[in-house]
Amino acid sequence: MKILCGTDLVEVERFRRILERNESSFINKCFTEKEQEYCRIKAGGKRAAESYAARFAAKEACGKALGTGIMSEGIGMTDIEVVIDEKGAPHLELKGRAKEKAAELGVFSVSVSLTHDGGMAAAYCTMLAE
Ligand SMILES: CC(C)(COP(=O)(O)OP(=O)(O)OC[C@H]1O[C@@H](n2cnc3c(N)ncnc32)[C@H](O)[C@@H]1OP(=O)(O)O)[C@@H](O)C(=O)NCCC(=O)NCCS
Repeated sequence: MKILCGTDLVEVERFRRILERNESSFINKCFTEKEQEYCRIKAGGKRAAESYAARFAAKEACGKALGTGIMSEGIGMTDIEVVIDEKGAPHLELKGRAKEKAAELGVFSVSVSLTHDGGMAAAYCTMLAE
């Protein structure tokens, strides 16, 4: 068995500016409707930039674990979706080319952890592969 991992760190301010400028084309290109809904609702929208930044970091961390990076080898940002369970814990759902790449690598388990504090957001992704 192999352990694949990836991590990423993102400045929250970058997403605060994107939201202030209402750059919906960037948001729509990077985040699924479910992810956008979570960020809009989170803390009444007051922590939206933090949650967007953490999700962006999660997608990049996942791209690193897959060994492809993101926006390469046909893997788009919305092919990696952060979903939240009933306890608030994040999970990654892989779709399209990201799902295919994971299958090629023999990945049978994907985990992610997110954090945001002090103006930064970070994510760590771990995959178990045969
Ligand atoms: C989960 C917990 C450790 C988060 O720690 P924190 O320092 O507040 O927040 P961080 O910035 O480090 O992490 C936030 C991320 O943790 C993740 N998270 C939330 N609940 C989680 C859980 N049960 N398991 C794993 N990850 C969780 C989320 O992805 C969240 O980011 P998002 O909302 O943008 O998706 C903390 O809230 C906790 O212990 N919660 C469970 C018990 C509880 O609700 N207690 C009341 C707290 S006042």
